[in-house]
Amino acid sequence: MTEKYAFAAAQARALVEGTPEDVPNMANLAALVWQTMDRINWAGFYTVTPQGDLLLGPFQGKPACIRIPYGKGVCGTALARQEALVVPDVHAFPGHIACDSASRSETVAPVVRDGKVIAVLDVDSPEPDRFGPEDVEFLQAVAEILAQHP
Ligand code: SME
Repeated sequence: MTEKYAFAAAQARALVEGTPEDVPNMANLAALVWQTMDRINWAGFYTVTPQGDLLLGPFQGKPACIRIPYGKGVCGTALARQEALVVPDVHAFPGHIACDSASRSETVAPVVRDGKVIAVLDVDSPEPDRFGPEDVEFLQAVAEILAQHP
């Protein structure tokens, strides 16, 4: 992990320390991702509902779509596959859900707690092909910090 991301991951651990509730932790982690990553226009969480779909959670950026069905869009696909996704060109992704028309590339990391996806961490960029392996590694680390807490 790059030095910047390793430092931010340490900050993420410190931020959730002592807080067992997911909502404030997601809010602070979204803010941390937002201030850490450059060239992004949206960063935040969708939580998995009891029905298995996605519901908008804490985020930074423009207002976004509230519900995403299981298996739909980039987020619903990452949920269904239970794996991180990188979409270098959102216009080329079948079923991509456009919330901010400025978004050109996107990455999603699932938050897996006790073997179940409980949320996804979604980040958009106005730049095509913005996200590489080191970005994904950072977002997976943040997702894991949330998942393994408390
Ligand atoms: N583009 C996402 C929807 C969420 S927004 O990017 C904030 C998707 O296709 O799932």
